[in-house]
Amino acid sequence: MEITSRPSPWPLEDSLDELEQLARTAGIAVVGRLTQRLDHPNPATFIGSGKVEELVALRAALDADVILFDDELSPRQQRELERAFDDEIKIIDRTALILDIFARHAHTREGALQVELAQYEYRLPRLTRAWTHLARQAGGSAGRGGIGGVGLRGPGETQLEVDRREINRRIAQLRRDLEEVRRHRELHRRHRRRAGLPVVAIVGYTNAGKSTLLNALSGANVVAADQLFATLDPTTRKVELPGGRQILFTDTVGFIQKLPTQLVAAFRATLEEVTEADVLLHIVDITHKLALEQAATVGEVLRSLGTADKPTVIALNKIDLVPDPEVVADALRIFPEAVTISALKGRGLDDLLARVEEVLQGSMVPVRVLLPYSEAELLHQLHERGSVEWEKHTKEGTVVEGRVPPWLLARLEGYRMR
Ligand code: GTP
Repeated sequence: MEITSRPSPWPLEDSLDELEQLARTAGIAVVGRLTQRLDHPNPATFIGSGKVEELVALRAALDADVILFDDELSPRQQRELERAFDDEIKIIDRTALILDIFARHAHTREGALQVELAQYEYRLPRLTRAWTHLARQAGGSAGRGGIGGVGLRGPGETQLEVDRREINRRIAQLRRDLEEVRRHRELHRRHRRRAGLPVVAIVGYTNAGKSTLLNALSGANVVAADQLFATLDPTTRKVELPGGRQILFTDTVGFIQKLPTQLVAAFRATLEEVTEADVLLHIVDITHKLALEQAATVGEVLRSLGTADKPTVIALNKIDLVPDPEVVADALRIFPEAVTISALKGRGLDDLLARVEEVLQGSMVPVRVLLPYSEAELLHQLHERGSVEWEKHTKEGTVVEGRVPPWLLARLEGYRMR
């Protein structure tokens, strides 16, 4: 059963359709819908009290055992709603549902740690006796961490306090573990930099076709499925551009409207692939009726990551499903710079790579630097990642003129000559 009550920039039914798809991905079949238009969510029960009664009756009639809300519920709202059902039913909000899907799809250690941390942070303020009782019964995915069988109670502590203490301890441990994994990732990234390959991060709304494209470009075997968030952990593959230059493409987590804030924070490391990329490749599913809204949502997340100015190539995907050339022409009027592709059928990929190459080249900025001989590594990067037009060895160091990607410019700042 799905519930929504807040007016959102997305049409109500479309948002519920998406929630239904999320539910399916999490293995939940939807049997009914209920909606309510309110100026503000009710602080106690999210929906109005009359609506709660309606919901109780509907759930009995449909014999549903889960109620999904298409918005994040406050801890209080969640508690009050559970009480309205005498704690006999699971109340799950959009955030918890997305977290659950992420937990199922995280395969690397880093992905699993990030999701587990986000789940605990989400659960901590929502911890109630009723909730822990339910969680034990349900054995929810974060329950794996052991909220159920927590340690011994200290003097005068309630079970709730023990649970809280245990979760806080677990959160601290997860943060430490993540820090460790991140240090490793940073080493990898530096290694990659040294290897001198530009990085293109593939971004897009969930199910747009990012994994399919990465497979098509590199012959990699990345999971592509008609599910939301099939890929969670970034995969990186080497691809040769038409001019012979090698670059790296990296697949990132799919974006979605109302992406839980805990997740954006938890996936900071994964999303760093986006912030550190030289070029973004934004995949839009042209067959989706809300393609425009989806693209705008991706744009918002990119802005929140501070990457809105990064050189971007837009690819309109799944054109094999659009027989009418007028529809494609309409889309191109909205995204005039876009390349049209079919990742599944391998159409338009040469054009796409040519555009990526062009944008990579165009994103470079001119520099003139005097690099002391102690900065051999920087000089090496300048040769590998930029294009050197003129070079001269002097007593103070090497004077170089050329073009470099913006991230390298930042590193050269202290050595620039005016
Ligand atoms: P997330 O992991 O959710 O972020 O998805 P994704 O963007 O990686 O999408 P994925 O590659 O998993 O593709 C989603 C679905 O769209 C799969 O069923 C693909 O087979 C299908 N698909 C992708 N590209 C095309 C295409 O060009 N044409 C058609 N017809 N289907 C496509």
